[in-house]
Amino acid sequence: MPVTTQQLIQWKQQGRTIVALTAWDCAIAQILDSAGVDLILVGDSLAVVLGYETTLPITLEEMIHHAKAVRRGVKRALVVVDLPFLTYQESLPQAMHSAGRVLKETGAQAVKLEGGYPAMVETVHRLVQAGIPVMGHVGLTPQSIHQLGLRQQGKNQEAGERIFQEAIALEQAGVFSLVLEHIPANLALQITEKLRIPTIGIGASANCDGQVLVTSDVLGLSEKQPPFAKVYTNLREHITKAVEMYSEEVKDRRFPS
Ligand code: KIV
Repeated sequence: MPVTTQQLIQWKQQGRTIVALTAWDCAIAQILDSAGVDLILVGDSLAVVLGYETTLPITLEEMIHHAKAVRRGVKRALVVVDLPFLTYQESLPQAMHSAGRVLKETGAQAVKLEGGYPAMVETVHRLVQAGIPVMGHVGLTPQSIHQLGLRQQGKNQEAGERIFQEAIALEQAGVFSLVLEHIPANLALQITEKLRIPTIGIGASANCDGQVLVTSDVLGLSEKQPPFAKVYTNLREHITKAVEMYSEEVKDRRFPS
């Protein structure tokens, strides 16, 4: 049975942890989906896979192109697509147009956008009213890298309280789930206990209802990983070895045999 946004909320009520990862093409999406990942995010961290330094330059066209490929590889997982920088912050019509294009053109079931109170709350409310499921994202929001850096957020009482209030406001506006990125464990716990919708943590401790990581970090494909990522295999090494073997065999005329 395909995973739905309602299912994620039921899983929170049942204490069933949600497994999420990012994907950028059909092959990766097929592998994640077959391995039982519940939520596949076409995150704008795709920018790094495409060779950009930050998530800022990626366009809606690029996100849609990759999201279509991901969607073709998925049978079960819920597919969520990030709205890239400045494709939703300018105005409500802009947000509606971008989110609508993502749903219509890719077949994904939801969009994710960064930020909270007050900037994004009205936008989320109106998108949800229009029938577009929205996932929120607070704490470290990489689209604000030039304001926040990549530091942990919500470390002092005041900053923590602001993120806590943002989380409540986003739930009230209608998000079906909320990414908590790089915040202290106690803050993640307070938010997770307060909200009815599931929190999905990345660098936010095990005190969340689910976890997400960037798949190129998990697989050891990224050149460098954030401090909270776990590298489960080193594909850079495996691929290098395979390419070297192929190269030697071609040069020695051992391939094709
Ligand atoms: O773009 C992305 O991959 C994300 C995750 C870090 C949650 O937003």
